[in-house]
Amino acid sequence: MADKRVLLIVGGGIAAYKALELTRLLRKAGVGVRPILTAAGAQFVTPLSLSALAEDKVYSELFSLTDEAEMGHIELSRSADLVVVAPATADLMAKAANGLAGDLASTALLATDKPVLMAPAMNVRMWNHPATRRNLALLKADGVLFVGPDEGAMACGEYGPGRMAEPPAILEAILAALGGDARPLTGRRAIVTAGPTAEPIDPVRLITNRSSGKQGYAIAGALAALGADVTLVSGPTALAAPSGVKRVEVETARQMLAACEAALPADIAVCVAAVADWRPEAEGDRKIKKGPEGPPPIRLVENPDILATLSKSDRRPKLVVGFAAETNDVDDHARAKLAKKGCDWIVANDVSIEGTMGGDDNAIAIVTAGGIERWDRLPKGEVARRLAERMAEELRK
Ligand SMILES: Cc1cc2nc3c(=O)[nH]c(=O)nc-3n(C[C@H](O)[C@H](O)[C@H](O)COP(=O)(O)O)c2cc1C
Repeated sequence: MADKRVLLIVGGGIAAYKALELTRLLRKAGVGVRPILTAAGAQFVTPLSLSALAEDKVYSELFSLTDEAEMGHIELSRSADLVVVAPATADLMAKAANGLAGDLASTALLATDKPVLMAPAMNVRMWNHPATRRNLALLKADGVLFVGPDEGAMACGEYGPGRMAEPPAILEAILAALGGDARPLTGRRAIVTAGPTAEPIDPVRLITNRSSGKQGYAIAGALAALGADVTLVSGPTALAAPSGVKRVEVETARQMLAACEAALPADIAVCVAAVADWRPEAEGDRKIKKGPEGPPPIRLVENPDILATLSKSDRRPKLVVGFAAETNDVDDHARAKLAKKGCDWIVANDVSIEGTMGGDDNAIAIVTAGGIERWDRLPKGEVARRLAERMAEELRK
């Protein structure tokens, strides 16, 4: 990608701060970045930060004598292989859809002869407004590419679609648009389980666990970003489905297994969910009442083993990965689990380390028949991205 260059238009939204991280990732990937910062964008990030990370001058003015003498606005609009708009505000989308050219960013979008990729970011009501829907349809019809938006909590306190895609997902979309092998899992199917299961004791009580689902959701998103067709089988979580992922919501281990089997055949299965080993034998249809006989005994029976079932299935995915959350003797337990379950890798994590369960970071070890490889503590998103790349490599073999 060393010879590739993007013109990055940064619009005026809260998500502009993510454009800085995107710039850093692009430079790390060897892609040149020439930034255009709108006047509104400059209210959110400084030209100095953008310029320092891009290692290039930041362009903002349409009527600048020096800029126009050095690089005219038409030349600027064509000086890259791809024009990226991140964040793409409702305003920039409206201007581009309707051919307005009242400032440098919109003029560049109208004058360019290069492909355009937009990463929209706006309040959910702005995104759902009929005007934005119209503009989106017009831009798609004009061949503009899109990444995101994601669904989730917004800076304004509302919830829904409109959050800008995360920088790694935008990077993948840029690399794909630039023609690299950024989507090596295109045409591949993946099943990812995530979150806890919830096993009913009676109609109001449950046995569940502290899994947040964050790591599994991040892996589902990372596999989708590499082009895989992902079914995310999720226990109850508070998370929004990552973009491009089909989510099937379940509660119990038995439902989770049925949903996984319904999603077969697949090339990859990643069992990240914290599945309850046992469930109450009898799920009464009435709430158990307090009484003079004291607390009721709850007899547990074993749940189906989803990882082992998929590993031994006659429709076994080519690569089956299990997660092992352990609190002690992590390596030994992971090695034993690998042998017992019949999967290809066990990703072991020590959940006794404070902040792993429910937190944003994870320190993992990958256990395979060949040995153990330890990774430093990383954000769960980065763990997911690296694991997804590793899985793509494995399928290439
Ligand atoms: C605090 C704040 C946050 C904003 N966030 C967004 C946003 O996320 N998306 C958006 O489309 N507009 C947002 N706006 C409105 C835009 O900044 C405004 O429409 C501006 O004219 C966009 O200019 P530009 O498209 O040239 O960057 C926000 C405004 C404020 C004051």
